[in-house]
Amino acid sequence: MNVAQPIEWTDKGVVMLDQRRLPGEVIRHTYADYRDVAAAIKDMVIRGAPAIGVAAAMGVALGVERSKARTLEELRAEFLSICQTIAGTRPTAVDLFWAVERMSRSFEQLAAANTPLDALRRAMVEEARAIHAEKKAIDEAIGCFGAELMPATGQVMTQCNAGALATAGIGTALGVIRVAVEQGHKLRVLVPETRPYLQGARLTAWELREGGIPLTLITDNMVGHFMKTGSVAAVVVGADRIAANGDTANKIGTYQIAVLAHEHGVPFYVAAPVSTFDLTISSGEQIPIEERSADEVTHLCGVRIAPDVTVANPAFDVTPARLVSAIICERGVARAPYVESLRRLAGSK
Ligand code: MRU
Repeated sequence: MNVAQPIEWTDKGVVMLDQRRLPGEVIRHTYADYRDVAAAIKDMVIRGAPAIGVAAAMGVALGVERSKARTLEELRAEFLSICQTIAGTRPTAVDLFWAVERMSRSFEQLAAANTPLDALRRAMVEEARAIHAEKKAIDEAIGCFGAELMPATGQVMTQCNAGALATAGIGTALGVIRVAVEQGHKLRVLVPETRPYLQGARLTAWELREGGIPLTLITDNMVGHFMKTGSVAAVVVGADRIAANGDTANKIGTYQIAVLAHEHGVPFYVAAPVSTFDLTISSGEQIPIEERSADEVTHLCGVRIAPDVTVANPAFDVTPARLVSAIICERGVARAPYVESLRRLAGSK
């Protein structure tokens, strides 16, 4: 499947497709310093929970690879500071912390085995590349499980961008749609623009058009109308963090889509890897919600569209589990009660 590559590891450093410039320009940046990788995550050069996880792992690996430390103790001190910098970029997507934790486990295992520093540096790079490679297989599996839930024909709504740009694979929500279309489902995707950052209009519309998947772009306030007129057969969205009870944080606007889907009897599916489960928290109330800059609301493509007033800009909202018809991950499909089904899938391999 031919999809966009948001991130790559190269000898020169971490290469990222600049998602802030899409769809107008397709440009890439090479980062040779982990602090620049952290800034790129914060500034949305790369975004989407699983892709942020890959970027975090590569950022940590880059920091270790380029470190001038000459002893394990020096390297460990630097490593902790690298992890802290990367972990401090965006608070909601748990994949970021999952990736940092996995890199930390790997570091400590290598250290415990008295691995020489050069070999340790190489192994950390390999671990980051392994995380990247795994994402591709994970998305394919999510796509296969999810395709079975897609209608044979009709319109499917999504939110934000949960495609290749967001995962470094084929996408989670868009991966489900891609696989279904490949299997012969006749689907059209209804794409809400996803204000304020316009991931729907800029990224999902671009990705679907590049992939030859039919779509209709709508503004966010048209969702109710299309639900009511019966032209939505299903909703499938990604996730940034799923609590143990199935409450799901995703891009702002997801909750209102879920409420409308419930009102109109439309199934509402969440597609996400196990790395997006956060079983350490019992409900969505404990999910930290990132508050982003007021400029994203008062400005559109750099042009002021509102006076200088008080602005709220929560980047995510939480959809309660009771509105979620199923959660599709790489190990299968979880249904309510999620406390049991998510625990079972997280524990299985
Ligand atoms: O702020 P973003 O663009 O990083 O938010 C992305 C989303 O909310 C996605 O829907 C989510 O991360 C899932 S991506 C497979």
